[in-house]
Amino acid sequence: MQRILSGIQPSGVPTLGNYLGALRNWVALQHDHECLYCVVDLHAITVWQDPHQLAAQTREMAAALLACGIDPERHVLFHQSAVHAHVRLAWIFNCIARLGWLNRMTQFKDKAGKDRENASAGLYVYPNLMAADILVYHATRVPVGDDQRQHLELANDIAQKFNHDYGVEFFPTIEPLILGPAARVMSLRDGTKKMSKSDPSDQSRINLTDDADTIALKIRRAKTDPEPLPETPAGLEGRPEARNLVGIYAALAETDAAAVLAEHGGKGFGPFKEALAALTIARLEPIAEETRRRLADPGGVDAVLRKGARRAAEIADPIAAEAERLVGFLPG
Ligand code: AMP
Ligand code: TRP
Repeated sequence: MQRILSGIQPSGVPTLGNYLGALRNWVALQHDHECLYCVVDLHAITVWQDPHQLAAQTREMAAALLACGIDPERHVLFHQSAVHAHVRLAWIFNCIARLGWLNRMTQFKDKAGKDRENASAGLYVYPNLMAADILVYHATRVPVGDDQRQHLELANDIAQKFNHDYGVEFFPTIEPLILGPAARVMSLRDGTKKMSKSDPSDQSRINLTDDADTIALKIRRAKTDPEPLPETPAGLEGRPEARNLVGIYAALAETDAAAVLAEHGGKGFGPFKEALAALTIARLEPIAEETRRRLADPGGVDAVLRKGARRAAEIADPIAAEAERLVGFLPG
């Protein structure tokens, strides 16, 4: 059975983009993989996080993952900072990755923005820690949204260079799993920007904890163009907002854009948005309710994470120790 690792930052409430691009696949993959799912609090502090909020958001993220259907009995759910092997391997990877490789990372450019001098050093080496998250378990498959493709290519470059420099076949090749018609969900306010939990505008995203009225209002107000929906997917070319809403509908209905347009093509956005809102509410409300139920017992959620961290460390500690031995560190 192949081992999976994936991560999500506790930098806010998970969005519909997280759900369709990643979390829904995480749940499905549990049937035929050994899965480790990680709330990446170390990654979150690459940009400022209020300490009280970070702790609360880590717990909320874990509750939301449980509500989506992550099974902490058969698989492993934990928070990154509790398993020190990630950081031990990340330091070695900081010394493997080349500046030239990191300079090409588009997520750094996006997140650092114009004031690059003022970005944290952590934000710059973020992809090295992400490579360590995966490789410290010798995981081979990584389900992510499309925005993480470049980071996974870098992780493979790091693994290869480590193996080459130390003359070993220690780290495996990672296969990205970028699945479904909504591997990149865009902002409801701007069809060229990805939907993000850290976007300053709450209107740009649907949160997994939004109530039905909020979801309906956000979809009704979502940006569109004045044309009716096209009859075929080719007609979505150059219409990013229309493409996004059709992609979301297709993902939620577990079909594809052609089938959605066969039903809704030729109509205006008004009735389509009503149908999309109803579908979104039907899919998300049970998750929101289960997240609230889980959060009513914060100690219970924390206990799940602590137990997960212990099990994760049992796998990661020996692999980190072996990497350190290969590098030439004396045992501690
Ligand atoms: P993050 O929110 O950056 O911690 O991302 C967690 C997971 O959700 C990663 O696998 C991302 O690729 C995925 N993801 C984040 N935003 C989106 C989006 N707008 N569309 C699709 N997948 C996304
Ligand atoms: N960088 C990922 C994101 O922002 C989160 C992440 C951290 C991750 N470590 C990971 C994803 C390891 C997959 C595997 O979406």
